[in-house]
Amino acid sequence: MNKPNDLAIRATDLNDIDSNASHDNHFNSILNARLSRRNWLRGSAVTAATAVMGSMGLSACGGGSDAVAVTPTPTPTPEKLLAFTAVPKSLADVVSVPAGYTATALYALGDSLRAATPAYKNDGSDTDFDNRAGDHHDGMEYYGLSAAGAPLASGAERGLLAMNHEATTDEKLSSHFLHVNGGTTSLPRPAAEVDKEVAVHGLSVVEVKKTGSAWATVNDSAFNRRVTPLTDIELAGPVRGNSLVVTKYSPTGTKTRGTINNCGTGKSPWGSYLSGEENWAGYFTRSSTDNAARGDKSVVSLNRYGRSQGGASRHGWETGGSDDKYARWNLSKTGASADGSDDYRNELNGMGYIVEMDPYDKTKAIRKRTALGRYAHESAAFSVPAVGQQLAVYMGDDSRNEYIYKFVTAAVWAAADANPADRIATGDKYLDSGKLYVAKLAADGTGQWIELSLSNALIQAYGAYKFADLADVLVNARLAADAVGATKMDRPEWCSVNPANGEIYYTLTNNSNRTVNPSGSSQLAPDSANPRAYTDMKGSSAQNGNPNGHIIRFKEGTGAAAATSFTWDVYLFGAESGADASKINLSNLTADQDFSSPDGLAFSPYTGICWIQTDDGAYTDVTNCMMLAAIPGKVGDGAKSTLNYATAAGGNLAVDTFIGKKPTADTLKRFLVGPVGSEITGISETPDGKTMFINIQHPGENTALANIGDPSKYTSQWPANAGYGAGKRPRSATIVITKNDGGRIGS
Ligand code: FEO
Ligand code: CA
Ligand code: CA
Ligand code: CA
Repeated sequence: MNKPNDLAIRATDLNDIDSNASHDNHFNSILNARLSRRNWLRGSAVTAATAVMGSMGLSACGGGSDAVAVTPTPTPTPEKLLAFTAVPKSLADVVSVPAGYTATALYALGDSLRAATPAYKNDGSDTDFDNRAGDHHDGMEYYGLSAAGAPLASGAERGLLAMNHEATTDEKLSSHFLHVNGGTTSLPRPAAEVDKEVAVHGLSVVEVKKTGSAWATVNDSAFNRRVTPLTDIELAGPVRGNSLVVTKYSPTGTKTRGTINNCGTGKSPWGSYLSGEENWAGYFTRSSTDNAARGDKSVVSLNRYGRSQGGASRHGWETGGSDDKYARWNLSKTGASADGSDDYRNELNGMGYIVEMDPYDKTKAIRKRTALGRYAHESAAFSVPAVGQQLAVYMGDDSRNEYIYKFVTAAVWAAADANPADRIATGDKYLDSGKLYVAKLAADGTGQWIELSLSNALIQAYGAYKFADLADVLVNARLAADAVGATKMDRPEWCSVNPANGEIYYTLTNNSNRTVNPSGSSQLAPDSANPRAYTDMKGSSAQNGNPNGHIIRFKEGTGAAAATSFTWDVYLFGAESGADASKINLSNLTADQDFSSPDGLAFSPYTGICWIQTDDGAYTDVTNCMMLAAIPGKVGDGAKSTLNYATAAGGNLAVDTFIGKKPTADTLKRFLVGPVGSEITGISETPDGKTMFINIQHPGENTALANIGDPSKYTSQWPANAGYGAGKRPRSATIVITKNDGGRIGS
């Protein structure tokens, strides 16, 4: 969720928080020492990486027909991809797809998962959300089943959708669509409202099945499941048992209560579901005198993660009652213990991880993989597995000026793990030990992965925070990344690995902090990897910085997944097609391709298409959010370019950047436009490539609380206006997309 340019309507824009005030990593001053390596990296590394990736594709696809392997090599494509007619930009309150395609709502907020739970009335009176679809559907993955209902990766007509329920549509504390009259907008919040709002967060698993040509969810399937902020979740990896995660709930520091603000997703090569915890910090409060009560370095950590003392929580859930399940939302040090086992002073350290779940097996513990670091996670994308080689997991931290990370496993990939007896135990093997790195990008198109551990002298010597051990580095990964001078990026959202060549794509959604003349600690000058600072008008309101975002991509150097160096370029710059092509529309986007604020991004393992989704507030005066289909080239297929900016002091700021080959009508095309006020997110397909599931998040989100009860004033009535479900309140929902001729999606 984010509408960075619609701040007036949003009570809390948690995505757009800027907690990175570190001063040590201005881009233009870094890495001159590596200039001499530029030509070597630009040349031979490309060849080496291509060779490695070529062999990976062959060695990774050993699963039999019942394998749960999830990284298939793309099959040759007999049909022409992107042959559809581009969908025009639109402000209509519908889902628009190309001629020849059908999009249908399938699974919306409140839909019953159990026979005993009544159908959703959608009037604010519904309860029992532990047995209903959650709200704000976000990242999502498909897991195949056989006709008989057994796990089967190739199952294309019956399967499970596992998805994140990120948040709710709010105004003044209350998730207003969930309550009859919009709910209580002052403290204390009634327990019944809090319980409902908590329960719509988390994850869900729902069985889906195709009958004839129609898909439907399976009510009361034994696989159907909800995970909420109250579900017991194990801490796994180096942070497990550390003093930093001791709470009243878990005095041994081995588990946490639930997961929250789950955003992007990932699918492991062993068939599990990965969920990123994103804007979790804002749900917690801290008293205005908590710094003095603590009097230790935890204050530095809390400030860096966006919870300075006196900060109000997003919903006021801590006021729901005396029960511990409400108290846990208050981070203040209130107990007398030395270790935090009598309060929730350490509760925030249990949030902010990649969470692993076996979507097929409710009996397996859900685990937070702490070795991958704690920050505002989006998706988690694996390198192409190669037998006998380490795996990389690529990740980003979505706040303004935050960083790009990767985790490299200690274990090397074994083909048998593509179809393991125990997927969570396999997760233990790969995700609990390894090294976490942060990206540092140079102006010459190269970059370095810097290890975050106490073996790095800069981390040992960091003046702002004294790290005790590896667990401390992982819990405070942002501070460790500050210490090593990582590159501040324009809000990293999803990432995905191109299965054809192993290159890594990151969406950088936007950044209002880029400016040619920075002042204060949070504003940044444009740099090579984040090279634009400009003004876009939305009606009469000026949007400054990089309001439309861009997509950067990396090619690993020697060592492939375990490489410590890479090269990069900018695949695409978001822009309005009519914007200045020399300064803003640097990718020469046409009206059939122009987009703003890329967020979801994933390569189809089946067609190889790169799907790009937007969560925008900048171009929404012209069009609702959208999804595009792309066939990208590779790092280095474009040209170096220099952007010149006039500084306030009368000088010239020259920023070199690398612009990928400009797209054509055959390589980038708009495929879908969503309803009013919605973000398009979640990319998943059946393994025959013929059915796509995506999520429509927060349609009608700008509907004012005062208008609850008057459907004529809802900014959206989707999906009710498409014939789905009761009531007229807008609902986040999964849609299913098929091609009328039975072909693959994107052809
Ligand atoms: Fe949940 Fe960064 O979007
Ligand atoms: Ca977003
Ligand atoms: Ca504009
Ligand atoms: Ca996102």
